Order: sequence, then structure tokens, then C-alpha cells
Amino acid sequence: MSEYRFFRVLLAANFLLAAIVFLVLMQVSAPYGRHARRGWGPLLPDWLGWLLMEAVSPVVMIVLFAIGDTPKTAAPIVFLTMWEAHYLYRAFVYPHLRRSKHHKMPLTIPLLAAIFNLDNTYINGRYLFHFAGGRYTNSWLSDPRFLLGTAIFVAGYAINHWADGVLRNLRAGGETGYKIPYGGLYRYISSPNYFGEIVEWLGWAIATWSLAGLSFAAWTIANLAPRARSHQKWYHEHFDSYPPERKALIPWIW
Ligand SMILES: NC(=O)c1ccc[n+]([C@@H]2O[C@H](COP(=O)([O-])OP(=O)(O)OC[C@H]3O[C@@H](n4cnc5c(N)ncnc54)[C@H](OP(=O)(O)O)[C@@H]3O)[C@@H](O)[C@H]2O)c1
Repeated sequence: MSEYRFFRVLLAANFLLAAIVFLVLMQVSAPYGRHARRGWGPLLPDWLGWLLMEAVSPVVMIVLFAIGDTPKTAAPIVFLTMWEAHYLYRAFVYPHLRRSKHHKMPLTIPLLAAIFNLDNTYINGRYLFHFAGGRYTNSWLSDPRFLLGTAIFVAGYAINHWADGVLRNLRAGGETGYKIPYGGLYRYISSPNYFGEIVEWLGWAIATWSLAGLSFAAWTIANLAPRARSHQKWYHEHFDSYPPERKALIPWIW
């Protein structure tokens, strides 16, 4: 099988798998954080789990950029920068900022997430830096899809960072419990960090205008929408005073 055929089969499988993962996660919440439970393999520190699963993406993307055949013009470099801005932070900074960094995470989570990140980075990086050929010339930088998508990506990035920061500040040093977050988007939804992450990768799909980017956006929704629903249910079960008008993920809707 040629590499291009392999790539296309994998890309199609990714869309199918995203649908399956969505259905599974609507029934079984991923066992980490507040939904952690026993029976999912040996435990390792939360920060190490995050580092192991997320480091795959920035490292593999740089390799794919280096070995790809597409001309190293401005547009591919901007895509690489967007990707690295997200993943270098997520892999090497965010795990150490988490107030729960010494909690335990079952090995199954970083293992499955690392496999997904390898697959997803291959699909996106190989398309952008190899199979796209000369598609992303300098004129792509003034294309409305690129401009709109990049603006959405940056907005999602900012929302995600802000929302994670609010959660971090709910716990003073050493505290482990949960509190109700307030303010900004938390007035409308329980998981603005997931909302921001989804907006970010929808922006990526628009900016790259590719099936590869769209498959990542689909996976992000498949992963985080059910988790936002589980968080919402959990908040209502644990806080009598939880704001009843607050939705799970999409303001005023869901
Ligand atoms: N692209 C993807 O598919 C994907 C997948 C997963 C995560 N992510 C991103 O990774 C980041 C973290 O995800 P996550 O699932 O760990 O998010 P999360 O469940 O919202 O937790 C984030 C951090 O805040 C703490 N926290 C959450 N709610 C709290 C509350 N009410 N009071 C006090 N502390 C609270 C958590 O502690 P505990 O750990 O003790 O609960 C954890 O340290 C997010 O930005 C998310 O978008 C992306």
C-alpha cells in the first residue's frame, strides 16, 4: 500500500472512530480528574501522565515539518507555530501548573491519548507539510478562510487559557477540593476550557481548510462534549447551589 493510500484510509478511520468514541464517552466518562476510579491500570502522577501523552504532538510535528516535501514558505511555518504554541504549553508548562499535579492518573489514559496524538499529528502534519504539495503558498495568508480560521483559533486559545486559569485559582496551595467557578463564560457554561479548546480546533480546520484539520475538530468534540456533560452532571450532584441556568458546553443551548 502506498503511503498516500494509508493516509487516506487512516483519515477516513479517524472520522468513524470519532463517532464511536463520542458514543462510548457518552456512556463511560474517562477515568481521570473528578471522574477517576480504580480498575484502569497502574497509577502514575497526573503531571507525568500529561507530559507523556501531550509531548508526542509537538515533537512529531517538528519532525514531519523537517522531512516534508512542501516548500517551507510562510503559511506552513504559521501552521507549525500555531500547533507548537498549543502543544509546547500543554505538554511542558500546563502539567506543572495544575493544582492536581500530584494526584494519580491510570496509565490507560496517557497510553490511549498518546496513540491518538501520534495518529492525529501524523494526519495533520503529513497533510500540511507533504501531501498538500504547493497548496499553501504565500497568497494563502490573505485568503479569507485562513484569516477567519486563525482569528477563531486565537480566540479559542485565549478562552481555553483563561478558563483553565480560573479553575487553577479556585484552589490555594495544597487544597484538593472542588468549588463553583464564577465569572465570564462560567456564567453561561460549566466547561469554558473545553469550549475554548473546541473553538480553537474548529479555527484550525477552517484556517487549513482540510479534512485533516476537520478530523481533529471532530475528535475534540467527540472527546470533550461528553466530558462537559459528565462535569455538568457531577456539579449538580455535588452542589445544591449550582446555578440552574448554566449549560454544559454551549451557552444557552446545551
Ligand atoms: N483536545 C482534547 O481532546 C483534550 C482532551 C482533554 C483535555 N484537554 C484540555 O486539557 C485541559 C485540562 O483538561 P481536564 O479534562 O483536566 O479539565 P478539567 O476537568 O476542567 O480540570 C482542569 C484542572 O482544574 C481542576 N478543576 C476543575 N474543576 C475544578 C473546580 N470546580 N474546583 C477546583 N478545581 C477544579 C482539575 O482538578 P482535578 O484534576 O482534581 O479534577 C484540574 O487540575 C483543558 O484545557 C482541556 O481543554 C483537551
